[in-house]
Amino acid sequence: MKKIPRHIAIIMDGNGRWAKRRNRPRTYGHQIGAENIFTIAKHCDQLGIEYLTVFAFSTENWNRPQGEVNFLVKELPFLIYNKFRSKLKDHDMKFQLCGRSEGVPLKSMELLRELEADSSDNKGLKIVFAFNYGGKAEIVDACKKIVQENSTLEHLNEDSFREYLYLPEVPDVDLLVRAGDERRVSNFLLWQVSYAEIYFTDKFWPDFKEDDIDKAIEFYNSRKRRFGKV
Ligand code: IPE
Ligand code: IPE
Ligand code: MG
Repeated sequence: MKKIPRHIAIIMDGNGRWAKRRNRPRTYGHQIGAENIFTIAKHCDQLGIEYLTVFAFSTENWNRPQGEVNFLVKELPFLIYNKFRSKLKDHDMKFQLCGRSEGVPLKSMELLRELEADSSDNKGLKIVFAFNYGGKAEIVDACKKIVQENSTLEHLNEDSFREYLYLPEVPDVDLLVRAGDERRVSNFLLWQVSYAEIYFTDKFWPDFKEDDIDKAIEFYNSRKRRFGKV
C-alpha cells in the first residue's frame, strides 16, 4: 500500500526565473507562486497529508533588492490573506506561522496572525507558513529561550530541546520537496529535516502542480527509510 508522508515541506523556489522567462518582473512570479500554494494545499489535504510547510520568505531574503523585499513582506502576506481567508474555513485547514516577527511590517503580521487565529480550531490539513524563517535563527532562538529559563543541563536532551522550537507540536519532516532546479537546503528547517527524504525537481514553483506532488510521493515510496538502522 502507498505510504502517505505525514509532513511534507516545500522550498517554493524558482518564482523569479519563471517570471524572467516570460519577460515579466520577478514579483509577478511571486504573485503566481503565492496563488499556487492553495492549489497544492488542497491536493495535500485530499491525499490525507497532515502537515504542509511552505518556505515563503527566508531570513536571507532580506538581502534582495529593496523593491522585491517590499513585495515579499507587504504584498505577499496580503495576497495570502485574500486567498486563504474564506478558504481555510471551507476546507477546515489550519494556518500556522513559523518564523521571526521582527522586521516584518506590522500590518503584514496582523493579517497573517488573523489567518492563524481564525483557523486555530480547524482540524484538517495544517499549513505551516514559514515566513521570515531561518533554520539557524530558529535554533539560536531556541537556545535563547533555554538560557532565559535558566534550564538545567540535565533537563536538556533532544526531546526537551524540541519544546523550544517555533512549533514544537509539528512533527519532523518526512518528505522535503525543492522546486526550482537547485539542490540545497537553503537554511530551511535544519532540525526537522534530519531524516527527511529529499525530492528535487527542475520545475519552477509556479509550474509545480498536483501531479508533481504525486511524483514526489511516488519517489518517497521508492525509498527505504532506515533511520540509522540496517
Ligand atoms: C522563491 O523564488 C521565492 C523566494 C525565495 C521568496 P525565487 O525568488 O528565489 O526565484 P529564483 O530562484 O530567483 O528563480
Ligand atoms: C529559498 O530560496 C527560500 C525560499 C524559497 C523562501 P532561495 O532562492 O532564497 O535560496 P537560494 O538563495 O537559491 O539558496
Ligand atoms: Mg531562488
